[in-house]
Amino acid sequence: AQAEKGGHSSFMEKEILEQPHAIADTLLGRTDSDGALILDELNIDPERLKAIDKIIIVACGTAYYSGLTAKYAIEHWTRIQTEVELAHEFRYRDPVIGPNTLVVSMSQSGETMDTLMAVKHAKELGALTIAICNTYGATIPRESDGALYTHAGPEIAVASTKAFTSQIAACYLLGLYLSQLRGGTYADDARSIMTELSEVPAHVQTVLDGMDRVREIARFMADSRSVLFLGRHVQFPIALEGALKLKEIAYIHAEGFAAGELKHGPIALIEPGQPVFIIMPSHDTPHDLHAKVVSNIQEIRARGARTLVITEEGDEAVRPFADEVIEVPKTSMMMMPMLSIIPLQVFACELATAKGLDVDQPRNLAKSVTVE
Ligand code: G6P
Repeated sequence: AQAEKGGHSSFMEKEILEQPHAIADTLLGRTDSDGALILDELNIDPERLKAIDKIIIVACGTAYYSGLTAKYAIEHWTRIQTEVELAHEFRYRDPVIGPNTLVVSMSQSGETMDTLMAVKHAKELGALTIAICNTYGATIPRESDGALYTHAGPEIAVASTKAFTSQIAACYLLGLYLSQLRGGTYADDARSIMTELSEVPAHVQTVLDGMDRVREIARFMADSRSVLFLGRHVQFPIALEGALKLKEIAYIHAEGFAAGELKHGPIALIEPGQPVFIIMPSHDTPHDLHAKVVSNIQEIRARGARTLVITEEGDEAVRPFADEVIEVPKTSMMMMPMLSIIPLQVFACELATAKGLDVDQPRNLAKSVTVE
């Protein structure tokens, strides 16, 4: 096993570092020389896809958070109403499904029982089903009308990392493909967004190359009892996923919140010394959301929070209120999640390692949950 880890302290560490390749492999071969998307592999009649008027993404755990992230992009790019639901809730709640509903399942293993049963249920109700999956020939893609593989390579560590960023990339491809099918300005936009997406692997590499300070902070915070995460817009699911990583492998109480929700409850948790990660929306996020989150940082800092801010490089506005600024390359708002999650993965992995925990095999968890 030591050899398989390729000199890394854990599979998780190795898989975190593999992300530039994993995302690049997910994007590979899915555009023609003109930059148009080709997803013939879906094996679904494009006319059927064109008629889709509602999308429901079903998943569990980390895959659910990748779906939540993709919802922002897919709805924005296609104007098709998109919901994201935990697979185990979807199935038992009598969901509204029509012949033009597309149910997209997201699963690294392709074997999660709850997700599989949700797909079967959706099919019974007449939905079109597509599986986004990282494991060739797994049960969920076999049971679905079409499959889009993430090509991230085998993921061994229980806590998902490269599968997560690859799932976002794959779901974006699907969203852009649907906009291309819709034609007109949608198709033009899809092409330029595809260019931004193709730059993500290099940006992720830049983030990974600059993680020394994050590792230092993680070791310094090994005794933390609670860590909070705030995000807004497409960065909100990243707050949830950052918190999940810390719970899963470091056994630290961690919660992710939507920054706008702060004043409706979570701000009561802020006391002197409370560490809070803030995952900033990029400056191009509409409605001045960047400035609104800067005000949130100011509010919690005034109450003694220790603020660790993940933001795009050159963001001077956060500096007066940040105890630590962790920079990622400048990109467009929808690409930010795939960059901002990296420091949070590294943070959880390094902190758990510093605590002497088994990072790859956390207590009570399984890589794939094949029972209900
Ligand atoms: C388990 C794992 C998680 C994973 C979830 C969904 O709970 O511990 O890391 O996110 O299953 O797995 P899937 O294979 O369906 O993506």
